[in-house]
Amino acid sequence: MAAQPLVAVIMGSKSDWETMRQADEVLAKFEIPHECRVLSAHRTPVQTAEYVSQAESRGVEVVIAAAGGAAHLAGVCAAHTLLPVLGVPMESASLKGMDSLLSTVQMPAGIPVGTLAIGPAGARNAALLAVAILANSRPELREKLRRFRAEQSEKVLRETLP
Ligand code: RP5
Repeated sequence: MAAQPLVAVIMGSKSDWETMRQADEVLAKFEIPHECRVLSAHRTPVQTAEYVSQAESRGVEVVIAAAGGAAHLAGVCAAHTLLPVLGVPMESASLKGMDSLLSTVQMPAGIPVGTLAIGPAGARNAALLAVAILANSRPELREKLRRFRAEQSEKVLRETLP
């Protein structure tokens, strides 16, 4: 998206994109200017720190950080910014994402990471939570979020079973 990003979505590897595209889709649906990029806590530590340190001055209001294994990207991001950081644990091949979940959720007190569910649900919910945070000070966005919830409820109530 061309406009100055309000949400920065970063992921530790291109292999995370298949999951994180769901966050991208939700943010696009709500017309939130955002940018998605690959940055790794362990493969590009210096560039990750630089990017996150500069995010607030670029107008970013929420950071979504996704990583798999013990990579700990969200915690590293949170250490470099006062912005809210939402962590999405990627499902990993060896431990099905339990490693990612624990490395993201178990932050020692003082530097919080708001951790979402493992995998696609976490990706979508991270984007929805970012929308909710932004909506606190944007009435039009809040109304869009309210409509989204209402449509979701209506869809469930319309369900028929065989
Ligand atoms: C993490 O390691 C990434 O976030 C990814 O989930 C995982 C595996 O990365 P690749 O080996 O597929 O690049 O840093």
